[in-house]
Amino acid sequence: MKQRKLAWTYYQPLKGLYITARLLALLALVPSWTVYYTLFKRPRPSWTLKECVLVRLIHWIMPLNAHCGISPLKTSKAREVPQSELKESTFVWIEPADSKFVVGIAKDDKVLPQRIPGYVWPKGADIASETGLVGLWFHGGGYMMGNATESYEESNIPRLIQRHSKMKTILAVDYRLSSEDCHPAQLLDALSGYSCLVNTLGMDPARIVLLGACAGGHLVPLLMRYLYEEKVLPPPAAAMLFSPWLDMVIDFEIIKDQSRVRPNTEVDMLSSSHLANLLFLGHHSAEILGSPYLSANRTPSDGFKDYPPIFVSVGDAEAFKRECDELVDKLRKDGVDVTYDVQKDAAHDFWGALVVPNDAARARLAENVYQWLAELDGQARKVASA
Ligand SMILES: *[C@@H]1O[C@H](CO)[C@@H](O)[C@H](O)[C@H]1NC(C)=O
Repeated sequence: MKQRKLAWTYYQPLKGLYITARLLALLALVPSWTVYYTLFKRPRPSWTLKECVLVRLIHWIMPLNAHCGISPLKTSKAREVPQSELKESTFVWIEPADSKFVVGIAKDDKVLPQRIPGYVWPKGADIASETGLVGLWFHGGGYMMGNATESYEESNIPRLIQRHSKMKTILAVDYRLSSEDCHPAQLLDALSGYSCLVNTLGMDPARIVLLGACAGGHLVPLLMRYLYEEKVLPPPAAAMLFSPWLDMVIDFEIIKDQSRVRPNTEVDMLSSSHLANLLFLGHHSAEILGSPYLSANRTPSDGFKDYPPIFVSVGDAEAFKRECDELVDKLRKDGVDVTYDVQKDAAHDFWGALVVPNDAARARLAENVYQWLAELDGQARKVASA
């Protein structure tokens, strides 16, 4: 698996030319797609014309990130955001996890724990005095883009959950992207977030639910594996994964052998990104990508024994559908209480990214999430009062 050469699209001036050409081409492509989907077959018959064109458009723009390494919407990890800039959440500093918690795969001479920004939902909430479920949220973007602020579109997920479910407070972790620091920076920042809840705020882990979408849905199983293997802190009550990225080996396989491409790649907006893996890997050997830490869907049997309940959400038009199937299958075989929510005709990140089809799938998923959290909350309260 030694494939370290980055694509020509990563280096200037070719990068600039590639980006300009791709953007200019849209002037012709958008009208053509519009005509095409008006006259001919749509990827999914239930999608509206606008949805078909938008998915195509995102798919076309995605390589600017996936092949050129542009990291849009990256936040400064050193800036304290004034409360006046925030409407729905409160800025907090998340202190680096104590070095006694940093062992095994998280220990790296070149990549250290650091202080990172966090956002508490809703604005003014006091996590320490919360008696119900508390969420720990990790946004997505392939570890290549995105942020944890309330203005990032995917924050729709924590926004809706704390508004409408039994989980009334959520801490969003603005973890380092792989362009800022390679692995294990993301795990370290996730660990700092968890330790902030458990150690700094003294929360009972039995009330903490890890939440992640896309790359955040990769970081959640990574943190869970770490807590499970190293036992530095007790495990959380549960985890929820939305359109999770699970398989980190497949992009290498695609380069070598086109037969195992991801499903739905013609329909979904995602573009397969080798660069995301390489930036994430940094100085590490590519072999680690196949470990259960980084490819949860490749975990050997019995690897999930005694895991807490897990909710997995995916659309059946997603490129990640197969790796979700694989993970759920393994969780079930190991006896984990897993809820698999598959929404018809929904494309990648459909709950977090509102430009993605479709509204009906979003509404159904939201109801199922609130219901699942209500049951979890009931169980947690029963245990607490026993
Ligand atoms: C975070 O993402 C949102 C877009 O979703 C953007 O408006 C905002 O500027 C980003 N934050 C920073 C500091 O770049």
